[in-house]
Amino acid sequence: MNKDQFILAIETSCDETAAAIIKNGQEIMANVVASQIQSHKRFGGVVPEIASRHHVEQITIVVEETLRQANMDIGDMDAIAVTEGPGLVGALLVGVNAAKALAYANQKPLIGVHHIAGHIYANRIEQEFTFPLLALVVSGGHTELVLMREHGSFEIIGETRDDAAGEAYDKVARTLDLPYPGGPEIDRLAQVGEETIDFPRAWLEEGSFDFSFSGLKSAVINSLHNSKQRGEVLKKEDVAASFQASVVEVLTEKTFQAAKRYDVKQVVLAGGVAANKGLRQELTKKFNEASIPLSIPPLNLCTDNAAMIGAAGAIAYEQGHRAGWDLNANPSLDLERYGSRKQL
Ligand code: KG4
Ligand code: ZN
Repeated sequence: MNKDQFILAIETSCDETAAAIIKNGQEIMANVVASQIQSHKRFGGVVPEIASRHHVEQITIVVEETLRQANMDIGDMDAIAVTEGPGLVGALLVGVNAAKALAYANQKPLIGVHHIAGHIYANRIEQEFTFPLLALVVSGGHTELVLMREHGSFEIIGETRDDAAGEAYDKVARTLDLPYPGGPEIDRLAQVGEETIDFPRAWLEEGSFDFSFSGLKSAVINSLHNSKQRGEVLKKEDVAASFQASVVEVLTEKTFQAAKRYDVKQVVLAGGVAANKGLRQELTKKFNEASIPLSIPPLNLCTDNAAMIGAAGAIAYEQGHRAGWDLNANPSLDLERYGSRKQL
């Protein structure tokens, strides 16, 4: 690359208003995230209408702060990238319209990015990809094993048939009366608890790389209910440790089997649940033993941010993908289709 490439990226798919500037697809010049967690906490989950309103209030401030931190001007950018989906439609629309306005006013190319492609590309900020690559995507809305044979191409080889891993964490946390978001709370309790309850592991049919977490969630609810009826009190720490052990074992084992089956050269972990200590430990142990390179993003790049959108947007930019002025928020954007389309 003879000239440095700079991408301004925007992410507003859920409850974080985020902007970042990425140099050459791999270097963070600035990465600003305005979290709304405090506003949603008292409702026990993300309220879409409140999320949209916060994004409207924050987006200009966050973009200006990003430029200020990078000490750059919008004129220095090669392109503007934005999450176009999946996510909450009202939330996505704020980012998409901000990106369109910035791109149009400054005559810059506009690039639409798939949120999950972003989560996967968070790993490329640290380290170059080697293909074929397998990504374990575990977020609040998605649980997927994604095979990548080259940059920008995504093949889903397994996915959840019911709840996403993060969703299971959040639902179980709610039954344990833990604050939102429940994933980090369960993770924290699991570190000090003991695996005293043998919860089920949903392996599904032989050779399947799909997941299922709803049975586990019901098993946790049933065991809390039954113990209450018997007048016993289960320690929250032990329930958390036992639940986490089931989730982590299934995720780790299925990822390992898929990595062997497709003979991949690299495995990457992606999505909000990638912040989970238990999962990070088990995957590291398993893949180290098998000498298969594993990449795990730093904590601030696991949960929603715009640096990852810039990293994925940089590849889309190099591959010639361009969005038109009719770019729209797409709450159910498909990852495989996103990867196979070309907007030249
Ligand atoms: O990727 P993300 O920030 O948003 C989506 O795209 O969905 O993921 C959010 C999810 C939530 O369900 C949250 O509870 C979960 O990630 N999460 C965790 C941890 N940190 C965040 N789950 C388990 N352990 C954690 N440490
Ligand atoms: Zn996410």
